[in-house]
Amino acid sequence: MKILVVGGGGREHAIIKKIKENKSVTEIFALPGNGGIAADATCVDIGAKDIEGICDFAVENSIDYAIVAPDDPLVLGAVNALEEKGIPCFGPRAEAAIIEGSKVFSKNLMKKYGIPTAKYEVFDNAKAALDYLKDAPIPTVIKADGLALGKGVIIAETREAACDAVNSIMEDKAFGKSGDRIVIEEFLTGPEVSVLAFTDGKTLYPMVSSMDHKRACDGDKGLNTGGMGTVAPNPYYTAGIAKECMESIFMPTVNAMNAEGRSFKGCLYFGLMLTPNGPKVIEYNCRFGDPETQVVLPLLKTDLLTVMQAVTNGTLGDIKVEFEDAHACCVIMASKGYPEKYDKGFEISIPENINDKVFVAGAALKAGKLVTSGGRVLGVTATADSLGEAINKSYSYVKEISFDNAYYRNDIGKKALAATEGE
Ligand code: AMP
Ligand code: GLY
Repeated sequence: MKILVVGGGGREHAIIKKIKENKSVTEIFALPGNGGIAADATCVDIGAKDIEGICDFAVENSIDYAIVAPDDPLVLGAVNALEEKGIPCFGPRAEAAIIEGSKVFSKNLMKKYGIPTAKYEVFDNAKAALDYLKDAPIPTVIKADGLALGKGVIIAETREAACDAVNSIMEDKAFGKSGDRIVIEEFLTGPEVSVLAFTDGKTLYPMVSSMDHKRACDGDKGLNTGGMGTVAPNPYYTAGIAKECMESIFMPTVNAMNAEGRSFKGCLYFGLMLTPNGPKVIEYNCRFGDPETQVVLPLLKTDLLTVMQAVTNGTLGDIKVEFEDAHACCVIMASKGYPEKYDKGFEISIPENINDKVFVAGAALKAGKLVTSGGRVLGVTATADSLGEAINKSYSYVKEISFDNAYYRNDIGKKALAATEGE
């Protein structure tokens, strides 16, 4: 089978490495892929948002199955367009991807169907939002409606900061049209859990839970990033909470999307907060998380392509999806300065024997050498029987890898480990 994967980050590298395990796969194309993915797939210089280019390539190369990984092409309708050309795909159609593409849509969906989430108000003009903020509870959370490269959420600790956020999103258009509408919501507290789930719109199988580390620096300090590391499973996510989430959040979401005529097929990502009043949805994503995928897929025992095809065919209920009873830790090696300004073009050295532990996110090939080309450069993942071992192993691999200006957090998994030991 010829497989096409749309995207070019660490998440896509993790998907490709797993897909390669299926014997029927003869060739994998990554659009656009990256310098590291090139070791496992044929990278083609077609951008992930170039829907027409992707479709033309898929038809010309007789692609048998396509996997659309990033949010932008999903929201733009890449799956709709590929399906129109007769190419089976993994990923939701645009009408379902809106669950991530519009926060106003997802908040209204949760309200309509009684799915637990933070209380909120929607505004389409700055004046009304600023009026509301005069006596809104502080801290408060301001969210741009549309996609904003993961930066559209501002936690305002003061009334002034909340007003600044409204002005920057709605008046200065910091996120362009994504900020035409905003959600202002209640500030929630509690441990955060990411749960990715396979669903074909009927059956839903949650994957092993995980914990992201979004802030740039140790101790959850510094700026928000795309994610500096992950561990799986998440120790806060007990069997009891999992059952509660299945009943009050996961299946109600699948059913709500069906009732709206927007059946969701693909990977549905639940960003949850375990509040003192029970688990609540912080956000939905219409795709695999990054870097959650880098810890979740290495623990998947069932063949990934088989699961994906069952999602596409609506036969997920006929198969079992199993995970190893083990732990994984992924440490992101970034360029110093990320998520702000950073230099690129530094040569990366990875010992041959740990190549299979490394998912490449931001690197290019220059004269046959792998060089840094992005903020998040590598995801280094280890699996082990215990969380402590997985953490130690991934940091031991990190120490064997080198490039100039490499930066990583030293405490990935530390909070999770403390939670396990506190039991
Ligand atoms: P997002 O970009 O939607 O993933 O949000 C980024 C981060 O903001 C989340 O991971 C949470 O840590 C935080 N966040 C979002 N919404 C809320 C909320 N209602 N209360 C507290 N923290 C929030
Ligand atoms: N790691 C968070 C995300 O993929 O959105």
